[in-house]
Amino acid sequence: MKHPEHLSPENWNKIKAFADNKETPFIVVDLNTVREKYLELVQGFDYARVYYAVKANPAEEVIKLLGELGSNFDIASVFELDRVLKCNVSPDRCSYGNTIKKRKDIAYFYEKGVSLFATDSEADLRNIAEYAPGSRVYIRILTEGAEGADWPLSRKFGCSPEMAIELAALAKELGLDPYGVSFHVGSQQREIDTWDGAIAKVKVVFERLYSEHGIALKMINMGGGFPAQYIQKTNEFSTYVEEITRFLTEDFPDLVPEVILEPGRSLVGDSGVIVSEIVLISRKSQTALERWVYADVGKFNGLIETLDESIKYPIHTERDGEEEAVVLAGPTCDSMDIMYENHKYELPLSLEIGDRMYWMATGAYTSSYCSVEFNGFPPLKTYFI
Ligand SMILES: Cc1ncc(COP(=O)(O)O)c(C=O)c1O
Repeated sequence: MKHPEHLSPENWNKIKAFADNKETPFIVVDLNTVREKYLELVQGFDYARVYYAVKANPAEEVIKLLGELGSNFDIASVFELDRVLKCNVSPDRCSYGNTIKKRKDIAYFYEKGVSLFATDSEADLRNIAEYAPGSRVYIRILTEGAEGADWPLSRKFGCSPEMAIELAALAKELGLDPYGVSFHVGSQQREIDTWDGAIAKVKVVFERLYSEHGIALKMINMGGGFPAQYIQKTNEFSTYVEEITRFLTEDFPDLVPEVILEPGRSLVGDSGVIVSEIVLISRKSQTALERWVYADVGKFNGLIETLDESIKYPIHTERDGEEEAVVLAGPTCDSMDIMYENHKYELPLSLEIGDRMYWMATGAYTSSYCSVEFNGFPPLKTYFI
């Protein structure tokens, strides 16, 4: 049997042997891949501190592994914080990276010992000053270049550089420590140049705050955005490192500030394979050219990032021979539960009901995105190897 291009034959054989006698659907996460990705990241960006974006895969196994390897953690909610602290990570290794938070949640982070907060608005900044007094804050700015990202994060988060300057100055007045600037160029960002534009904006904020307010910021948080290996090609990770490092040293020639990275997808994406079974294959008329292939996974139990066909996972089956275009849909009674219709996946004509389909590079933003029991289907089960 052929093996999928996206995994080495050894890794594929290991996953396949593990998966073969288990009831579908489920996801297998290979922790070795997470370890390799983390080591590749810290070797490449050896001057940066890593804050793993827990939301990408909040499993304790992943948190514990990354914690042991020395990672810090970017946290989105009190629930993630509890999970991370339970995994023996000290609060000084955590940052509250969500700019949208309740006052009582800010107070909770502060009580637990977290002293690093993201913000992008005056109201939130004032809440931080009141409920987490004296903390370090970094201001998130808006970035351009969302087109190059398969899962853009623009618009909802960040403020203009002008407002970032005002907020940092206000932070000081309110007794906080205006510590740095953050941005996120969009998840699965395939255009490396977007970091160039974002770093240039950060430079302006640094310079103007110093010259106009006497405030010397110390840190740049460059977010996530590094790629996993989906269908659409990306540059090698080493090219990201070379280029982004060049942008930084060009904009900060005297001294590059402290750099933080918040990767999620690039650390855990490639570690996962969702194993599913084909529930049904049909055509909509006797003469229809396309087959509809319905799997036992869909938008509501792991594949939500197929919304707008944004993330295109490599798919592997165990059949060979002539291939033909298919529409791929999930098992629920919701017509939104169609993964790919415009992007034409070609699958073998020999495919049969009951065959297994393997969804590669599904370790990020899948298991934690499942519905609780839509149509009665339980969330995806996760196995770690
Ligand atoms: C604040 C923040 N940092 C980091 C990440 C991780 O981004 P990525 O998965 O692209 O690495 C996200 C993703 O939503 C985020 O919201």
